[in-house]
Amino acid sequence: MTTYSKVLIIDYGSQYTQLIARRVREAGVYSEILPCTAADERIREAAPSAIILSGGPDDVGEEGAPTLSPAILELRVPVLGVCYGMQLLAHTLGGALSVAQDREYGPTELTVYGASPLWKDIPENAPFTVWMSHGNTVTALPTSFRAIASTPGVRIAAMADESKNIYAVQFHPEVHHSTHGTQMLHNFLFGIAGLKPDWTVRSFVDQAIEECRAKVGDADVVLALSGGVDSTVVAAILHRAIGSQLHCIFVDHGLMRLDEGEEVVSMLSTHMPGLNLHHIKAQELFLDKLKGVEDPEQKRKIIGHTFIEVFDREAKKLPKVRFLGQGTIYPDIIESYSAKGVVIKSHHNVGGLPEEMSLGLIEPLRELFKDEVRALGIELGLPEEFIWRQPFPGPGLAVRILGAVSEERLAVLRQADFIVRDELKKAGWARKVWQGFAVLLPLRTVGVMGDARTYENVVALRIVDSVDAMTADWTRLPYELLAAISGRIIREVKGVNRVVYDISSKPPSTIEWE
Ligand code: XMP
Repeated sequence: MTTYSKVLIIDYGSQYTQLIARRVREAGVYSEILPCTAADERIREAAPSAIILSGGPDDVGEEGAPTLSPAILELRVPVLGVCYGMQLLAHTLGGALSVAQDREYGPTELTVYGASPLWKDIPENAPFTVWMSHGNTVTALPTSFRAIASTPGVRIAAMADESKNIYAVQFHPEVHHSTHGTQMLHNFLFGIAGLKPDWTVRSFVDQAIEECRAKVGDADVVLALSGGVDSTVVAAILHRAIGSQLHCIFVDHGLMRLDEGEEVVSMLSTHMPGLNLHHIKAQELFLDKLKGVEDPEQKRKIIGHTFIEVFDREAKKLPKVRFLGQGTIYPDIIESYSAKGVVIKSHHNVGGLPEEMSLGLIEPLRELFKDEVRALGIELGLPEEFIWRQPFPGPGLAVRILGAVSEERLAVLRQADFIVRDELKKAGWARKVWQGFAVLLPLRTVGVMGDARTYENVVALRIVDSVDAMTADWTRLPYELLAAISGRIIREVKGVNRVVYDISSKPPSTIEWE
């Protein structure tokens, strides 16, 4: 039912494939990624208006290296090959390749020429910087292609067959360091492929609402609300689409931050008046099951299973439910090609869907990236403060209390964690860091308060910079701010007499301590 123009990106395993998809969407054109191992049928069914072939680490023509699916050129839509994509086009269409004598990696100087539509509004014969990441290059053009760019080490750095609308570049226009890269992609999308920038969050909302209505009919939908951004945005869409047919179950495991459970409930009732919200306060059950459990994996498993148990019990009380809403987003379902084989990431927010309920799935965000989900949340009227909340692990504070979890230790951590966030906010750092929180260690150390000896808990501060949580580094916070946080925690949180700062990066450490 998608009505937008669509660009298909064929993934040959480049670390930048998702970035190409992002750049295309930023230009207002809907894009989807398929692994290069996808069957021809899937490529045809996708019915793209244009195709981009990504880069990749393999050597074209070597045994086991990905080849060009015949369906791609048969569709006769404009094609742009990037890096491996260019080499693959050259190889398949009769050109020749070799390992460049002067391997160019990273920044290099590109000179474009030939008045190609790909270079519209880009200065010709005046070198500028682009990013390269492959040692192989095209040395002989396939028939009907002409060269349209070079670098000091690469004679054919871009080629084109304008009669067939096939273009290819040896460098990466999608990376930020490539000058005029965005302009090149725009030239391909709008000039060459003639697409319209019709992918907007607003039009997406209308379409998502219509699709949900059509799929659900007069049945009911159950949704597990976690208080996170994704499930809340799904709730907002479904609330608009089907109103009282939506039932949200908020399993409050009691492992949230200070006042968070109540805040989530109050935000939901303010912004989605009339929402059927089942707030299940299950802290006692969770704490009971976690009693004395110290192993991190054990804790995670217990919390996951207990969550499903409670959700299942509540959902079964709703007789008209035929669908399960989920906050699955695009990065959760992208199948990516890797030289080692096809890896399919699949993630379900509700861990194990109770099978005997045999519910249909409603996943309105499955085509969106995280920042698009946030933009959608704003479009749907959810408050900015909520939309920009830090990521918070499903098992909550249980994985930030090292050792056994108890109500007393939760209370200590909640207070310390509140101070960390409060001070970051007051100092204008809250949005600058990826995450900033406190961890309660299973240690006691000696201190002195007034004239008395103390023997109390240690709190660690974990404050990190990151763009995607895959890698992270500890934030170089001003000493004064660290001093303010530490001073307040030791003064205000009873039972803590020492604060330390975690200065480890990810990898090899992780962001959370458990
Ligand atoms: P790590 O500790 O692996 O965390 O570096 C990476 C990011 O994921 C968050 N995180 C979780 N999120 N369920 C979640 O939804 C979880 O079980 C979970 N564990 C870690 C973590 O806060 C960080 O942003």
